[in-house]
Order: sequence, then structure tokens, then C-alpha cells
Amino acid sequence: MPESLKILPDFTEQAINDRLKFIRAVNAQHKNSFAEDVLHGLSSDPKTLLPKYFYDAYGSELFEQICTTPEYYVTRTEASILKNVSAFIAELNNDKRVIVELGSGNSEKTKFILNAFTKRNSGITYVPIDVSEILLDGGKHLIEEFEGLSVHGIIGEYEESLEVVNSLITEPKLIIFLGSSIGNFDMPHAGYFLRHVSNNMHEDDTLLAGFDMVKEENVLNAAYDDAAGVTAKFNLNILTRINNELGGEFDISKFSHRAFFNPLESRVEMHLVSISRQDVNISSIGKVIHFQENETIHTENSYKFTDEMINELSSKAGLRISDKWKDEKDYFELCMMKK
Ligand code: AVJ
Repeated sequence: MPESLKILPDFTEQAINDRLKFIRAVNAQHKNSFAEDVLHGLSSDPKTLLPKYFYDAYGSELFEQICTTPEYYVTRTEASILKNVSAFIAELNNDKRVIVELGSGNSEKTKFILNAFTKRNSGITYVPIDVSEILLDGGKHLIEEFEGLSVHGIIGEYEESLEVVNSLITEPKLIIFLGSSIGNFDMPHAGYFLRHVSNNMHEDDTLLAGFDMVKEENVLNAAYDDAAGVTAKFNLNILTRINNELGGEFDISKFSHRAFFNPLESRVEMHLVSISRQDVNISSIGKVIHFQENETIHTENSYKFTDEMINELSSKAGLRISDKWKDEKDYFELCMMKK
């Protein structure tokens, strides 16, 4: 972390060693708890749950498994673009020693970028931000793999973590937001989110964002319903989490996974379908939830983009696209943006 680092009173920093540290950016006052969000989502009509709750330790592991299924082209395609253009991205950002990543997960794809940056310059600091502690495992491997790299992780949600970054880091930075994670927001919220990122950027800063593009419906449907059933497990894990953490009594065998591309909304939707009429008690929220046969819980939207959508989003956020790169099938697009 740069010398300007001052630990804010609300945030406790823990050092694993000289080159690996992390901060928990928890801001309990402003955020609903898991219990409140579950109560609200399952009391709504139609029922919903927020996709950020997929990612407990097991859910994060399952997501990593999804990334290696033959159907989920997203990770592989983005990695192939990064492999091709990382050296150029490092050249274009030669003034920067700090790389901030939103939603880093295990940082696997980021290695292309870190490799390119550490080759050009010494004293690179990588700041992964993730809700899951999985970033610590990633960090341990990274400091072994890249000599001289410092990893300063932030465990927390994007918004508050970005504010921590903004208050701690004054030198030019590259912010990366890979994997089309922005696709979890609906368009208005993706716009607010990008505006928030933009507000936390200085004039010299750059944003590198990945967007999964609209493509053949069968390719999209298969990517979210792989034959080995990993995505189904990932989706159902949110119910297991409610069982484990909130005293839920979901019988997982009485729900099934459903995923499909909704062309009108330009998004893949994931749902959990109640196989039968049933009542489920969740003791921590003090409520029994009633399900009709075939009633669904909407668990995720994954928006798929066109160039027009990306242009509109970035311009509304006050960002201009300085470069963009696609794979040969036009499945995925990486965009570099400036203020
Ligand atoms: C991490 C939100 C980008 O939407 O493709 C993968 C999550 N869900 N398979 C996506 C996900 C089901 C993923 N994002």
C-alpha cells in the first residue's frame, strides 16, 4: 500500500506479512443484514433473493467451478482477451503503480494484468476488493508468484470499499471490474454504480471493465445451465445458506434450478422453482414462507450488452471509452474508460 496509507478509525487492518495485508470495510449502519434482505425478498411478490448472497465460502468455490465448465464461455473468453492485450494495457497505464480490482474472487484472470505491470515497473500494489475472504487465498499465491508485488485486500462491498480506496490512495490507479459482474445490476443501477466509480476516480485514473455481449440464445442458456449441474448447485446453495445461517428449513430436493435468456430485457435470469406446494419455516426471521407449486424465487439477472448499451452507460456516468477489445467471436468486450 502506498505511503499515504492511513487506517481510518472504522476499519481494522490485519497484516499477514509485509506484502499481504487486508482491511474489512464493514459499514453495518447503512446496509441491510442477510436476515433483513431475505425477509424482504421472500415476502415480495414475485419472490426474490439478492445474488450477492451466493458467495459464501462454498458458493465462491462453486462459482470457480462454473468458470471451468465447458458451457460457461465467459471466463475463458475474457481471459483470452486479457492474455492478448495485457501488455498493451500496461503500456497505456505506465504511470500507474496501483491496481484496484472490484469483485476479484480468486484473482485468476488478473494475473495477466499483474504480470504485465510487474514486468514494466517495480513497486506495484494490487488492491483486490471482494465480499468473500477467498481473496486472501488468492493474495497468498500472488505474492509468491510475483516478486515485489504487494497485495492489500479489502473485504467488503463495492461501494464502501471504493470510498476506502479513494481516501487511502491518492496516486494514479487502474480500477478493473472484470467478468461482466456489472451485468448483475439492472441498467439504471449499472449507471449509478459506474457514476459512483467515476466519482471515486481522479483525472489520471483508468477503469477497465468487462462486458458480456448479447449472443445466440442457446449459447447463453447453456452457459447458465451446464450439463454437470454446477450452476444448479450454485443457485440452490443460497437456500442452504439460509438454512445454515438463518435457521431455515428448506428441503433443497424440493426446488429446482431454472435459467433462460430473456431477450426483451437482454438478460439471463436465474430462478429457483418450488417443485410442490410447501411451507418453509425460517426461524431467524420469524416467518413461515408459503410456496405454490411452480412458484419461483428470482435469484439473479445477468445482463448481456450491446455496444449501444455500453456507450449509453459510460456516457451517463461521465466516462469516455478510450479503447475496447473483443474476442474473435464477439462474445465479450473489454473497455478502457477515462473521466
Ligand atoms: C459473476 C455475475 C458475472 O452473471 O455470469 C455465473 C455469475 N451466475 N453463473 C454471471 C453467474 C451463474 C456471473 N457473474
